[in-house]
Order: sequence, then structure tokens, then C-alpha cells
Amino acid sequence: MKKILVTGGAGYIGSHTVVELTEAGYEPIIVDNFSNSEERALEGIASILGHEVTCYRTDCNDAAALTDVFEKEQGIAGVIHFAAYKAVGESVAEPIKYYHNNIGSLTTLLQVMEKFQVNKLVFSSSCTVYGIPDQLPVTELTPVQKANSPYGNTKKICEEILTDLAVSGSDMRSIALRYFNPIGAHPSAKIGELPLGVPNNLVPFITQTAAGIRQELTIFGDDYDTPDGTCIRDYVHVVDLAKAHVVAVDRLISGKADNIEFFNVGTGTGNTVLEAVQAFERATGEKLNYKIGPRRPGDVPKIYADVTKATEVLGFKTTSTLEEAMQSAWDWQMHLQQTSSKA
Ligand code: NAD
Ligand code: WQD
Repeated sequence: MKKILVTGGAGYIGSHTVVELTEAGYEPIIVDNFSNSEERALEGIASILGHEVTCYRTDCNDAAALTDVFEKEQGIAGVIHFAAYKAVGESVAEPIKYYHNNIGSLTTLLQVMEKFQVNKLVFSSSCTVYGIPDQLPVTELTPVQKANSPYGNTKKICEEILTDLAVSGSDMRSIALRYFNPIGAHPSAKIGELPLGVPNNLVPFITQTAAGIRQELTIFGDDYDTPDGTCIRDYVHVVDLAKAHVVAVDRLISGKADNIEFFNVGTGTGNTVLEAVQAFERATGEKLNYKIGPRRPGDVPKIYADVTKATEVLGFKTTSTLEEAMQSAWDWQMHLQQTSSKA
């Protein structure tokens, strides 16, 4: 079984990817410092798989500790690098924290990988690199724009670092996956997103409102140039997104990948915020308490992916509908309520 090191593997997308990697016949090894995750993610993974997954409580900025992991785990075939901070607003308030963690962890990891001659990397990038696009849907050739937050800038800079490495003559092969809006949870409801405090993202805010933890959802603006005036996003089920990592790893292992490749990972369909709310209500039968509020500064009015390249080159496909994703997010919310009320 090929070992794949998964940094940030206890996090939201990482935990789902660890499950999909295992089910595809890989042996994932998690490295996480638990700065934005909890041990219970590991319990959820173990409960789905029927066995534990090796996990090192290690900071990717700590070269010596990361070196120890590579030494202990001989024969790592590739790395998926999820570990990063991701809160856009916090990155505006604390930019250095974001530059240090998100860029430092990548460069440290690359140095350690080079030392151990591990030369296959999947990197978590984001549709945020496209800024406010001129044309929709966005393809991988759509120009990358000036980032509108330090967080977004870290993704842009990390892509540039990988591009520089690719042209340097290094034998590193990297695939940067540009995620659109990941939502939902594993169908078992044993792993999912664990937002700390008040959620910034739409779907956890929806599920927490329906669960009575939040009083109401504020929809940020209904005066955009979209069919119902609310913003458009491409909401991709986290399990479909996790599977994109498996096919990216397959491509790297097969030796077919170029020095650096970029892929959009979304559904190819844009939905408005109101459509997302309605999909949640239809899927779950819950009535959501919401109001229309002012626009949120910095929001992109509309963005969705052209996923032709991922479909044709990686064989990526989505299988879940928006309703299914909303249902899974709700099941996960219910699981969280039940398990925290037992604690
Ligand atoms: P997450 O916060 O749930 O997971 C990230 C994990 O990395 C956490 O478990 C955290 O503890 C860990 N981590 C952070 N810094 C670390 C470090 N220095 N060393 C070791 N572990 C560290 O986030 P997520 O939603 O799963 O996102 C995963 C990746 O995908 C991130 O790089 C994020 O920027 C990117 N991304 C996320 C989204 C999204 O909407 N969730 C969209 C686009 C891109
Ligand atoms: C989705 C839509 C909001 C909350 C963020 C990051 C981006 C990427 C994905 C990592 C928007 C609306 C939200 C609420 C609302 N992450 N909304 N009320 O803004 O597309 O992107 O996550 O790379 O970089 O910026 O996601 O879930 O915050 O918002 O009306 O309480 O829901 O205005 O239109 P977003 P989101």
C-alpha cells in the first residue's frame, strides 16, 4: 500500500480525504497540529474505516519534527498539503500569522520532501485566486487576480512558489486543486466541518440556525446582478472534493503529471444564496429563519467553475446534488448536537 502523507488530515477536507484515500487502497499518514481540529475527527475516521489511521501531532513549520515523521514513515509516495489557516477576516486582522503559517508550512514541507526525495505533491488552492472574474465560468486559464485578503494572497503565493519550483529543474511534480465552495459531510455523519465560534461560511451558519444555535441567518445582500439578487457560488460536496484528491494522487503516482498542473474543483454549476437556502429547506424539511442584510465587504458577486479540465484529465466527476450535500450537513449538525449533549 502506498503511503500518502496528509498534512491537515484531521481538518474538514483532510479528514474526508483520508477516508477516500484509504478506500482507494492508499495508506494515509496524518500530520496535524490540531490548531483548527479536534481528536474526535480521528475517532470519526476510525469509526468509518474500522481501524485507526496513523497521526502525528506535528506542526508543518517545525522542520525537525517533520523530518522525524519522514524518517519514521519510510517510503512516503506523495504528500497532500491541506495544513493552513483559512479564515479570511482573521487574515486581514492578523496577516503575519497567515503568511507565516500558510507559506512557512509549504516551504518547510518542500525542503523536507526534497531531503527525502519525495517529489509528488497535491496542494490545496482556492477559487479565491480568481478574485472577481470578468468571465464565467472560470477555467484554469482565467487570469489570476490581485488577492483581496492576506489569506487569498497566501494561496496565490503558494501557487507561485510551486510554479517557480517547477521551472527550476526540480523533479517535484505538483497538482494545485482550486476548490470552489466545499460543503456537506460524510454520509455516515461521523466526520464533518467543526467551525470554531460563529461560523463565517454559509452552510454551517445555516445548519446552526436551523438547530437553534443561531437566531437567524443574514443573507449578505440581495441587490447583486444575479437572478434573485444574491451572490452565486459553486457548492461542491466535500466527499466529491475528497475524491478529486485521490485521482490527483493517482495521476502523480502514474507519472503522467507535468511539473505543475492546476485544476478547478467544483460542480460547474452556480447557485445563489437563496437557492442554497431553499435546497436546505427542501432536503431537510426544516424552515430556515433568515433575513436580508447589507452586502458583506469583499464578497465576490458571482463565481462558478468550468470543470472540463478536471473531468477530462483527472476523470473527476461529482455525484452529489446540492440537496444531498445540505442533507449531509444537517445530519452532521444533528450528530454534533447528540454527541455534545452526551458529553
Ligand atoms: P481546516 O481548518 O478544517 O483544516 C486544516 C487543518 O490543518 C486543521 O486540522 C489544522 O489543525 C491543520 N493545520 C493548520 N496549520 C497547521 C500547521 N502549521 N501544521 C499542521 N497542521 C496545521 O480547513 P479545511 O477547510 O479542511 O481546508 C483545508 C485546506 O483547503 C486549507 O489549505 C484551506 O485553505 C483550503 N481551502 C479550504 C476551503 C474551504 O472553504 N474550506 C476552500 C478553498 C481552499
Ligand atoms: C458563501 C455565500 C456570502 C454567510 C470563502 C472564502 C474563500 C473560500 C471559500 C477558502 C456568499 C453568503 C455567507 C452568511 C451569507 N475559502 N453568506 N450569510 O465567501 O464564497 O468564500 O470560503 O479558500 O476564500 O472567502 O464562502 O461560505 O463565506 O459565503 O449570505 O452568514 O454565502 O455572502 O455569497 P465564500 P461563504
